[in-house]
Amino acid sequence: MISIVFIFFIRGLYLWKGYSRLRHEPPLSRSGLHTLGYEHLLIGSSLRKHRNTYAKISKKAIEHNLKNEQARLGADCELFAVVKANGYGHGAVEIAKVARDAGVTGFCVALLDEALELRQAGITEPILILGIVDVANIPIIAAEKLSVTVGSLEWIKEAKLKTKNHNNRLRIHLALDTGMGRIGFRTVLELTEAENTVTASKLFEFEGVFTHFATADEADETRFNKQLEKFNELINSLNNKPRFIHVANSATALWHLKIPTNIVRYGIAMYGLNPSGNALKSPVSLEPAMELISELIQVKKIQPGDTISYGATYEATGCEWVGTIPIGYADGWRRSLQGQTVLVDGQRCEIIGRVCMDQCMIRLPKEYSVGTNVVLVGKSGTDQVTMEELAEHLDTINYEIICGITLRVPRIYV
Ligand SMILES: Cc1ncc(COP(=O)(O)O)c(C=O)c1O
Repeated sequence: MISIVFIFFIRGLYLWKGYSRLRHEPPLSRSGLHTLGYEHLLIGSSLRKHRNTYAKISKKAIEHNLKNEQARLGADCELFAVVKANGYGHGAVEIAKVARDAGVTGFCVALLDEALELRQAGITEPILILGIVDVANIPIIAAEKLSVTVGSLEWIKEAKLKTKNHNNRLRIHLALDTGMGRIGFRTVLELTEAENTVTASKLFEFEGVFTHFATADEADETRFNKQLEKFNELINSLNNKPRFIHVANSATALWHLKIPTNIVRYGIAMYGLNPSGNALKSPVSLEPAMELISELIQVKKIQPGDTISYGATYEATGCEWVGTIPIGYADGWRRSLQGQTVLVDGQRCEIIGRVCMDQCMIRLPKEYSVGTNVVLVGKSGTDQVTMEELAEHLDTINYEIICGITLRVPRIYV
């Protein structure tokens, strides 16, 4: 009896020790995982998530798309990789490193935090922030040698007032609103005053001037040419020409090759997608960098009259095989994708019933085993689901699909 009590006491002690260790130990760090032999849980700079749904990102595709554009660049023209919005959903730091190795000489982001993320990851090349930053952040922007977009005289005046002194001059690109109607100077008068104020101050370096076209991806060039005319008028009014005068996003670079620019701000086409969707044919081969993969987590046979998912919007008319996939609208796999098809074993399978937050269901042509690969975007057999196809289904553009894949979907780089 005494020995039984003793054994229970010792076991209790062990259990309590284990429990309190779990409660009080800090979460495992990267190095902790290494020393415990769990390196397989690490991917890139972050922890690999334990999911059977992932975005497969091809570094080769990014390189291919960049090389193609590099071969078309005019003399003295630099290629900047646009990696805002987490590299259009592909992972900003990883894509920036691939692009740097492929020879790009600078980067564009939209936000200061995106620029700082790149600096913290060891990206030392020029970075242009395309959005308007708060003047309160000028000291860090200057210290990190970032270039900023300036679109109003008020900003310059406030920056002058609030910036007492800093060792590094703030690198400024003046944005010209030639028809986009978003940010930037619209008249010669405004631009002249902005130029004079910037060049008169030791706080600033007048590094660039640029515009952004609203219709570079359209066959009708009337509006594009109007914007170009306005841009030339504004540029001709400058007393000092800065080092960079740039106009080209992907669409301008692809379909308006002759327009002079000394930076190409290459975004969507670097990720292998056509800026026009399917409207214009790309003059170069674009290789999509992202595929979206999942697998069947449950397979069942349903009977006539059985319904699928919330609202019972799908009702089987006969005996059907149905598979469940672990992806839903919380992953950016939007609810209105009901009716879209995905690929199983090279065959089209329709998403039936409403897409849930974390899962959705597809109709299978026959029984498949749990664990069978499901290609949501990408190739399987001789067929391919493209981002454009999803965009058409959702009545949107390919940009919105890739940017919408949420962070809980692991990115696997191959
Ligand atoms: C000012 C500016 N330049 C370049 C780009 C890159 O455009 P794209 O992805 O079409 O190449 C963007 C993207 O929105 C932008 O806003």
